[in-house]
Amino acid sequence: MAAIPELSLEMKEKILIVDDEEAIRNLFVEALSGLGYRCEVAENGLECLGMYYESSDYDVVLLDVQMPELGGIETLRKLKSYAPDLSIIIVSASRDIDIVRTALKEGAYDYIFKPFNINDVQAVIRRAVERAQLIKENKDYQHNLEQKVEYQTHELVKLYSGTLQAMILALDLRESETGYHSYRVTEYALTLGRHMSLNESELSMLAKGALLHDIGKIGVPDNILLKPGKLTDEEWEVMRKHAELGYMMLKKIEFLEESAVMVYTHHEHFDGSGYPKGLSGTDIPLGARIFSIVDAFDAMTSKRTYRDEIAFDKAVEGIKEASGTQFDPAIVDVFIQIDLGVWEEIKENIDDSGSNYLKGLLFELSKYK
Ligand SMILES: [Fe+2]
Ligand SMILES: [Fe+2]
Repeated sequence: MAAIPELSLEMKEKILIVDDEEAIRNLFVEALSGLGYRCEVAENGLECLGMYYESSDYDVVLLDVQMPELGGIETLRKLKSYAPDLSIIIVSASRDIDIVRTALKEGAYDYIFKPFNINDVQAVIRRAVERAQLIKENKDYQHNLEQKVEYQTHELVKLYSGTLQAMILALDLRESETGYHSYRVTEYALTLGRHMSLNESELSMLAKGALLHDIGKIGVPDNILLKPGKLTDEEWEVMRKHAELGYMMLKKIEFLEESAVMVYTHHEHFDGSGYPKGLSGTDIPLGARIFSIVDAFDAMTSKRTYRDEIAFDKAVEGIKEASGTQFDPAIVDVFIQIDLGVWEEIKENIDDSGSNYLKGLLFELSKYK
């Protein structure tokens, strides 16, 4: 039976009484302990700060104004800068209204004039304790809310990454010849996009579009997609449908909506000779104009079964030659400024890290819309 009141005493709020007069400290301790509060005492501001820094679990601080070492107002200021929510009650012997005004301005919760009636003091303390409890509950609520949001974000990221991974895997299973082509063009596109000063959300759209640019090939029949020899005109006709098919696949997914447009237009040429729409110039979305350069660049610098890769510097020449016809000349100008070593390093890194690259990229992308 004795354990219950002891436990409730243990749970009671903790009050720090700061006064240089022992009689006053004792008076407070006696009255407040009687109400079940846990009381600790300090003789001046300095001692109070030392105690608070050591253990900041006080709910209310009672602070005398006139004290040696460090006075009440200065102690209040320091405590408030350290613990803005702390409930501090100023206990003043002077009825000087300026002191009260300063104390309230500095964040004191309330004030008590000496000599005081202990019943009035108890009422002030009770209010201060209730306020401290409310602040504590709000903090707990806020903390729980943050945890919930963090959990849901994590779940969303998992879903988001899973969707992209499944799509890429689906295409890789159909057409494995191109190896890490989609990873390389994603990283190349991000590099060129950064040199074009795109913002984070534009880069995210660009990366997702690059990663999924050929996703529509899932809809191209095996006899065409996997045909070892040259395609006939009719077969090319079907192959070209992959841009539109990719667009149709992605446009329904909210976080891929913008990238879907890039997928739709990734084979357009600057001079209007591309497909599916024959768009030209800046009618072609910026992402697609950036992407088509790195797509061609990676195709040239990667080995395929029917041809060898060419050197990076030769491939840059090839891009330059198609500036103004296939590619946007303004973007080609930015592209050729980038050191060849940058592309070489990306290619080596991706070839080394393989599918781990995708995990890192998806994590990065998950931070943006
Ligand atoms: Fe394509
Ligand atoms: Fe490609």
